[in-house]
Order: sequence, then structure tokens, then C-alpha cells
Amino acid sequence: MIPLRFLLSAAPVLASAHDFSAPPDSSRQQNPSLETRGEGFIRSPLNVLPNPAPPKLIRGRQNEVAIENQFTGTRYGVDIEVGTPGQKLTLVLDTGSPDTWVNPTCDTANVPDDCRSFPVYDWSKSSSLNATRVTDILVYGKGNATIQYVRESVKLGGATVRNQVIGVALESHDIPLGILGLSPPIRGVNEYPYILDTMKDQKLINSRAFSMDLRTVDSPEGALIFGGVDTGKYIGSLAKLPMLPQNQTPRGADRYYVTMSGVGLTYPDGLVERSQELEVPVFLDSGGTLSRLPRRIYQAFASSFADTQYDPSTGFYFLDCNVADLEGSIDFYFGDKVINVPFNDFIWHVQGYCVLGVLPDDDGEPVLGDTFLRAAYVVFDQDNRNLHLAQAANCGSNIIAISTGPDAVPSATGRCTAPPPRPTSGNNNLDVTAERGPTATFTGVGPTGIDIGPGPVATRVSGTGPLGINPTGQSKAYSLKIDVWKAVVGALVVGLIM
Ligand SMILES: *[C@@H]1O[C@H](CO)[C@@H](O)[C@H](O)[C@H]1NC(C)=O
Ligand SMILES: *[C@@H]1O[C@H](CO)[C@@H](O)[C@H](O)[C@H]1NC(C)=O
Repeated sequence: MIPLRFLLSAAPVLASAHDFSAPPDSSRQQNPSLETRGEGFIRSPLNVLPNPAPPKLIRGRQNEVAIENQFTGTRYGVDIEVGTPGQKLTLVLDTGSPDTWVNPTCDTANVPDDCRSFPVYDWSKSSSLNATRVTDILVYGKGNATIQYVRESVKLGGATVRNQVIGVALESHDIPLGILGLSPPIRGVNEYPYILDTMKDQKLINSRAFSMDLRTVDSPEGALIFGGVDTGKYIGSLAKLPMLPQNQTPRGADRYYVTMSGVGLTYPDGLVERSQELEVPVFLDSGGTLSRLPRRIYQAFASSFADTQYDPSTGFYFLDCNVADLEGSIDFYFGDKVINVPFNDFIWHVQGYCVLGVLPDDDGEPVLGDTFLRAAYVVFDQDNRNLHLAQAANCGSNIIAISTGPDAVPSATGRCTAPPPRPTSGNNNLDVTAERGPTATFTGVGPTGIDIGPGPVATRVSGTGPLGINPTGQSKAYSLKIDVWKAVVGALVVGLIM
């Protein structure tokens, strides 16, 4: 049994009465001036989107709205423009799915008001629209969208991608915003050129690579840099980790999988406790609010904190919000590289509750989501099938373009310096092999109406419904490709190998 190292006062789990009402639109993090376009790279700011207000709750208490927004950090949004003239839209950044699509219908979103608070794409006002006759239903871990494919101009961080195939949602369920999908093709075959492919084809970037800096919950202006690396945003070297080949991933899906070799905690008193050597495939998913890890790792993390309460209805472990103020981290090892996620970034603040940022992975697809990614600077190199990882920091900006070839991602050392080391002692006593149940169970009403992201895209069902947009008849090539792919797979419901 691991000693409970946090002997805090037995403060109630519900730390303070955070506001339950919808945050005003103006409170969204906006920083358009950060948009820059350099030689061979495109920088696009990321915004933390507020968690939607739960449906049926008391309104009127307006205190702490801004703080709640920042701390909630449940989804990361990218501002783009679609069409001609450009229509400004916000999409959720998702490294767990490949498709980019806009504007769901809000009526069937889980929180319709959240959906309606964002601008909606109006295809009838665009002169660059080229509709296809192809529709699909994209099914995510949670929710689905029926989309019709169109070719459109998409402007990101100052660069315009022309004739990009994107989906326009004709219907959607439980997904309040469109998605900017940046994963490899899940089945290993492109169904059509995705946005990263087109950026390279149109020579906006040299390689199919981008870097992602989600930033911390306290300073939410992150950035996505297509074709570039910002050495002002990390400490030390970037560790190059090979992406697992598709046939070695847990369920045969081609995702941004790397091998995690250990987990641990750094406690406020300087004790560094580490697990035994592990070999856990994990994929990096910006579309997931929380991480999902093998149950025993989740249980080991939870039992390392005092006063956790297990909520059987959600699987969340609530903990004392004061833990977020302590100096200490949840640690993830990848060979020689360790990423230390400060408690403050790993603990998810939602509706006054503090939730440990991990759930058990019961689908056999372990995920490191936003609760990990906030602490990591990651370069996703699809051309060479490598991820490059470093401890994120912020010490200005110095963007280097990624070139082509196997060493395209520069092995540049981050300009930021690590804080002075604290005296530490270490052991390997974090036992992630033992099953352990919760010591206390939460019996109240937990957070409601929350959205922890669509989860990884699971299946694609070929659409049969009527088209929503009149096709111009000029889109044969791509429709053919999609149709051929469907014929090859030979089934109406095309699942992963599961
Ligand atoms: C539609 O696509 C065709 C073929 O690529 C192109 O010639 C045409 O200009 C496009 N139409 C618009 C409105 O962009
Ligand atoms: C999409 O979601 C709705 C609502 O949950 C559900 O009724 C429908 O069956 C789903 N469609 C598919 C194809 O999964």
C-alpha cells in the first residue's frame, strides 16, 4: 500500500461555488494578432474554449466566471476562415481524427446553446464552394455527424488552402462544434487529401508536420505551427519517438501512437516515485479533455492522493482542490525523456469540482489527452512517422521551418531553461500492477452537462440520406476515390479492426 502523501485538511471536495451559468462570449480567449505566416510555416493561435454550461442549473451567480473558463480548459479551438469571402469559424483541434468538417446543426448538440454561441458556415454565401455528391456519417467515441463533402477555401493562420475537401454537417449529435482533424488516416489509406496533405501539395509547408503547444491552464494562448517548430516554447532537446506502425497499435488504427515506458509522481516534498518499466502504447489526442490509461495506472494515480472520492457514475476521482496549488507533478516517461505535468495542469477544474485528469481506458486505446498535452511541446511528423516531445515552457518565440527528408524536424534545443532543480530522492515504488479499489465513494451530484470531447473517431458509415448542398458536378475525382474505397471495404458500416 502506498502511503498517502498528501495530508491536507479534510476539506470538502466541492471547493468553492463556481458559477454554473453560461460564460459570456467575450470571455473566450482571443488573440488574433498572434497569427503569422512565415517562410515554409504557418502559425495559428489556439484558444481554450469554455466548457459549455450544463443544461438545467441555477443561473445568476456570476462570480469567478473568468477563472472557471481558464481552468476548465476542456477543448482547444482553432479560428479559421472558410469560403470566399472568408467566414470566420472556430473548430476543435483534434489529433485523434483525420477529417475536417464544419458547422453541425445545433438542435441535436448536447448543449445547443453552446453550439449556437459560435458562428455557423453558410455555404450559400461562398463563391469558392464546390460540393460533391458524397456523404458520410462520422461516428466518434461520443456523438456523430452526417457530413456532405465539399471542396472549399480554408484559411488558417494567414495561409489559404484552396480546394480543400471538408465536410459540412447536415446533421450532428452530441458534438457542438466542427473539428479540425490532423491525425493520419486511421485505416492507413487516405480516403481523400486531408488538410495537411493539401498544405504540402500546395507548397504552404515543406513536410506534413506540425507542432502543437497547448500551454497551461493559466496562460491559455497556445499555438499550432504547420511546418515549423518554435524553440521559444520548450526546455532542452526534443526526444524523437517513432510512431508505432499501424499493425502494432492496440486496435489496428493508425494514430499518433508512441510507447510510454513508465509513469510516476513527483511529490511536494521532493520524492520522485516511479513505476517499474512499462511498455504502454499511448496515442496523443488533443480532442480528449482527459487522458485514458490502463485501469491500474489510473488507480495508482488516484490512490497516491489523500481524500480522493470515486464517482461511480462518471469514473472521475474528485480530489481536494488545494492539491492544484502544491508543487508537484504527474510524470510520464518515454525512454530517457520525462514530461512532468504539474498538478495544476493535470487536475481538471469543472463546475467547482477538481477532477484527476485521467479515466480508465476500457476500449484498449490508451490516450494522453489535454491533461498531458498542456505540459508537452509536441512535433507531429507524419512524413517520417515520428513524434518529437519536450517539456513545454514559454520564453518568447523563435520559429524554425521544418524542411524535407528524414531529418526535416530540426533537432534544435529549446531556448527555455528549466527552473532550478529541487532536492529530490527517488524510488521505484509506484506499483501499477496491483488492482486497488477506491477508499471513498462520492455520493453527491457531480458535474453535469460536461463535454470531455468526442473521443477517437471509431467508424465511418456511408451516408444514404439526401444531399444538403446542391453539387456543381465538378467533383468527380474525389467522389470516385471515396466510392472506390467503400467498394473495396465492401460493407456499409466500416469499422476499425475491432
Ligand atoms: C470547382 O472545381 C473545379 C475543378 O477543380 C474548378 O475548375 C472550379 O473553378 C471550382 N469552382 C469554384 C467555384 O471554385
Ligand atoms: C448518431 O447519434 C444518434 C444520437 O445518439 C443516434 O440515435 C444515431 O443512431 C447515431 N448514428 C450512428 C450512425 O451512429
